[in-house]
Amino acid sequence: MTERPYVVDEMISAKTIAARIEDLAREIDREYRDTDKLVVVGLLRGSFVFIADLVRELDLPVEVDFLEASSYGDAMQSSREVRILKDLRSPIEGRDVLVVEDIVDTGFTLHHVLKLLGSREPRKLRTIALLDKPARREVALKADWTGFEIPDEFVVGYGIDFAQRNRNLPFIGKVRFPEG
Ligand code: PRP
Repeated sequence: MTERPYVVDEMISAKTIAARIEDLAREIDREYRDTDKLVVVGLLRGSFVFIADLVRELDLPVEVDFLEASSYGDAMQSSREVRILKDLRSPIEGRDVLVVEDIVDTGFTLHHVLKLLGSREPRKLRTIALLDKPARREVALKADWTGFEIPDEFVVGYGIDFAQRNRNLPFIGKVRFPEG
């Protein structure tokens, strides 16, 4: 699969992403202005670029933690089984928690993560996703904040991979196979 040649066409530019993140950060600042210290949880690995840019735009005291959940491995299709590969470092009971996801596709990953974190009794558990692909949804769920709604295209970049490649592209691109 990784050997098949493909090209990446830019879909959302780095500049457009940055502008959207500024707007989202202002909304989050407003929402949490009375919160003591917000726990921002990045879902590895895909969200590492988004969370880095998002927390630097926030004008709030934040704690940053990470959770690694995987449903795809190197495949293009969701396995529907979500595995927790790395848990949070700190307890979240009674805390305000914002889960940061790069993309919501079928929704299985976020659904599973919210169930897990919800069972730890945070004060408030909310979600932000940079991308939302509603056409692919299999679990009824929507992030509280979404950067961009996108069509059912295979996307890479800005943290998102294709077989572990292209995470370092500064924009969101669409994968295209020129030979059909
Ligand atoms: C990808 C992506 C989301 C999830 C979305 O993660 O980063 O976390 O899939 O898909 P879903 O809504 O269908 O569950 P992946 O399992 O590929 O791991 P990665 O973040 O390490 O790339």
